[in-house]
Amino acid sequence: MFVCHRPITLLLLRLFGSVASLAIHTPAPPLPSQIFPASAFPSNVPSFPSSPGVPPSIPPFSSSTAESTRARCPMTTSPSSVVVRFEDPVTVNCSVPETGFSLLGWVVSLLKEAPPPTMERSLVWSVNSVTDWKINSTCYALSDHGGQCSIKLPIIVYKPPDNVSISLGNHCGPMLEAHRYTLHCEVQRVAPVGRLTVTFYKGQTALRQLRSNNTEKEPVTEVFTVDIVPSKEDDGVQYWCEATLELGPEGPRRPPVMMSQKLNASVHFGPQLICPGKLQVREGERLLCDVTGNPQPSVIWYRDGQAVALPTRSSRNHAGKYMVWTKGHLGQKNFTVEVEVLGSVGTANSCNRCFLSAVLVIQMITWL
Ligand SMILES: *[C@@H]1O[C@H](CO)[C@@H](O)[C@H](O)[C@H]1NC(C)=O
Ligand SMILES: *[C@@H]1O[C@H](CO)[C@@H](O)[C@H](O)[C@H]1NC(C)=O
Ligand SMILES: *[C@@H]1O[C@H](CO)[C@@H](O)[C@H](O)[C@H]1NC(C)=O
Ligand SMILES: *[C@@H]1O[C@H](CO)[C@@H](O)[C@H](O)[C@H]1NC(C)=O
Ligand SMILES: *[C@@H]1O[C@H](CO)[C@@H](O)[C@H](O)[C@H]1NC(C)=O
Ligand SMILES: *[C@@H]1O[C@H](CO)[C@@H](O)[C@H](O)[C@H]1NC(C)=O
Repeated sequence: MFVCHRPITLLLLRLFGSVASLAIHTPAPPLPSQIFPASAFPSNVPSFPSSPGVPPSIPPFSSSTAESTRARCPMTTSPSSVVVRFEDPVTVNCSVPETGFSLLGWVVSLLKEAPPPTMERSLVWSVNSVTDWKINSTCYALSDHGGQCSIKLPIIVYKPPDNVSISLGNHCGPMLEAHRYTLHCEVQRVAPVGRLTVTFYKGQTALRQLRSNNTEKEPVTEVFTVDIVPSKEDDGVQYWCEATLELGPEGPRRPPVMMSQKLNASVHFGPQLICPGKLQVREGERLLCDVTGNPQPSVIWYRDGQAVALPTRSSRNHAGKYMVWTKGHLGQKNFTVEVEVLGSVGTANSCNRCFLSAVLVIQMITWL
């Protein structure tokens, strides 16, 4: 991946003072809170398989369908499913009704962790530290009438990401207006990545929410991407992403959330002329026409091939055709502006000052 932190910082430092007059500066948004309520987004987390159900592959008893197993199998585990952080402990109690069953046992993928089978009505399986990402655990019971019955315990072993970071894919430095770029959100060593939701933000606005379709149970690093086409209003905005492990109701009360750093966007644009091709200015007023761009373009006004300074007080002989030569970061452009100088009083556009002078004139006439 592209690494270009220093150039970005240096450019940003250099560019910050030079953003053009009309470029809109979006104020930095306040830091959003670390944790979003789980309800902030619709979560379409598939729920756990409902507990008594899947016939286990171990122990290798005669197979039966999930339906018939559920019908004849009044076993329960408490809890009915497990969400455990890697290296945390787990304790599950499996029980059968008072009558009808002889032997009760656990089959666990880590065989040494399974308690010995019992003739009691309940049997607790517990592990001090879950260190197997693909741990399997099934509780079984032998029926007095022959046959067996079992429940496979759904277990999710999770680990929050080591790091979440955002970057612009294959690009360094400022972006150009109206060009397409790809934001990358890299989530490092998270498990299970299939439970991860990644949301991209521009300031406080959620741009897109993504999920992984990877079913790997061990920690993986995954890069999520979203395309953006910045506009000049996006100059100064901050892009960031947030990774949330959606672990369902059995998971921790606050789902693990990790935010990336903020990526300051610098968007180059222009030069653009902010005045009409036919510019009307009142006699005595300033001849003004803004040229914007980021970075601020240089501008030279020409009249009849001569570079001219724009008058602070226009008079009728300032009317005419001008050529505006602009040179910005993205190249140079020439514009033509036709300036019309209007008489100072009595034309359509009213303004307070004109009105005031009119009143004064009338007053003076009255005094005379
Ligand atoms: C396991 O569950 C059974 C039945 O619900 C209960 O009688 C027993 O006390 C529980 N054992 C433990 C250790 O919680
Ligand atoms: C868990 O069970 C699955 C099939 O049910 C099996 O493929 C896998 O190897 C088991 N994991 C372990 C650690 O035994
Ligand atoms: C996370 O990743 C970013 C970018 O790779 C790096 O600058 C930062 O130091 C990392 N943070 C941690 C805690 O590893
Ligand atoms: C996951 O999605 C990618 C594209 O989005 C696709 O190429 C890939 O085959 C999918 N993998 C699975 C296991 O569905
Ligand atoms: C990004 O912008 C914020 C506020 O505008 C500033 O505090 C921060 O230092 C900037 N970060 C970088 C890497 O330039
Ligand atoms: C703009 O006008 C200047 C001066 O006449 C000329 O040198 C330049 O080539 C023109 N540039 C463009 C892009 O038309």
